[in-house]
Amino acid sequence: MNNFQFKNPTKILFGKGQIENLATEIPENAKVLMLFGGGSIKTNGVYEQVSKALSKFDIIEFGGIPANPEYEVLMEALDIIKAENITFLLAVGGGSVIDGTKFLSSAALYEGEEPWDILSKNKRTLEGMPFGTVLTLPATGSEMNSGAVITRAETKEKFAMGGPGLFPVFSILDPQVVASIPERQIANGLADAFTHVLEQYMTYSVDAKLQDRLAESILQTLIEVAPAILKDPSDYKAASNFMWSCTMALNGLIQQGVPSDWAIHMMGHELTALYGIDHARTLAIIAESHYTFNLDSKKDKLAQYAERVWNITEGKKEEKALAGIKLTTAFFHSLGIKTTLSEYTKDYKGTAQIISKRFEERGWKGIGEHGKVTPSDVEKIVEMSY
Ligand code: NZQ
Ligand code: ZN
Repeated sequence: MNNFQFKNPTKILFGKGQIENLATEIPENAKVLMLFGGGSIKTNGVYEQVSKALSKFDIIEFGGIPANPEYEVLMEALDIIKAENITFLLAVGGGSVIDGTKFLSSAALYEGEEPWDILSKNKRTLEGMPFGTVLTLPATGSEMNSGAVITRAETKEKFAMGGPGLFPVFSILDPQVVASIPERQIANGLADAFTHVLEQYMTYSVDAKLQDRLAESILQTLIEVAPAILKDPSDYKAASNFMWSCTMALNGLIQQGVPSDWAIHMMGHELTALYGIDHARTLAIIAESHYTFNLDSKKDKLAQYAERVWNITEGKKEEKALAGIKLTTAFFHSLGIKTTLSEYTKDYKGTAQIISKRFEERGWKGIGEHGKVTPSDVEKIVEMSY
């Protein structure tokens, strides 16, 4: 196992009715900016619950943060934070609202000239404005990690940011919110969390037995609850397991002491930036080609995954590895997710070249756990995903 240092300071309030406890988690004299998305919280009862819980606080609202949170929109919220002397941010939403809030947490205290530099120059945030979250969509793990991904529509760019200053102070996880999530977003949540685990697991062995088993157990839980939660999102037992699995998939725990990949996400983010495809679906597009292209270096882990997660007992190592790849694609299909780029856009030709050129320009010369997937490999992987 590799050396590591691990600290995750986010307090989790999990379960039925936890939104009621919101008031005790926010500093008494805080001036709060509450951030939300396109309005789902106004029709599913979450807005009422939050407003009731915070009736004694001085609150300003900022709605309209779009899926794949946009820089331009967030800059409007930043103006409000400054003009109104806001001291605490509250995100009520899914990954997009929480990520947007993380950007604002960082930008509010940023001393440089142009907040876009936080993203384009990947400036780590050591201290941000404190914020909490009320999660409405299990998927990204953003509620218990310190990363965010922000889009700039005018340049079709999507950049990641992060740093130890960007953990939420608290996150409220009430699985009852899952009941109103549309099927498309439930499928996205399952696929995103599943791929988060794969990115931190499908590398090479460093004999980290516990991390491997934790990763495998999250994958198995997601596979087990997927049919139930897709059939009935108000199934509280399934919703609880779905929600906690998504959080555990990307709260930092399973990545300690092991190598991680993240190449699927890096390529996937470009597909969202270029074509607006849902984040999780871009991962499903890239995964099979990435694992097939890198079969040699990932064979041991792929075979272990096929054996332990999918119970494949027959065949040589390579056959098991290939079966694992096919079963992953079949899992995405079982969620109703299409896995080739041409099923999402007619303009797919040339995408591979655009993405490899962008990686080259950004100096991303070698990605993946070995730092050896070159822009030219990226081109081939994306082409295999057409
Ligand atoms: O905007 P509203 O009206 O709230 O509707 C949202 C949105 O349309 C809706 N929704 C959310 N909760 C709901 C609900 N509808 C009904 N009932 C509810 N309870 O769902 C739609 C999608 O929401 P969004 O927040 O965009 O989805 P998700 O949580 O999948 O977040 C995706 C974003 O997170 C980034 C992605 O790149 C993407 O921008 N990611 C963030 C990560 C992180 N911070 O660690 C890691 C991920 O890999 C990912 O990159
Ligand atoms: Zn993701």
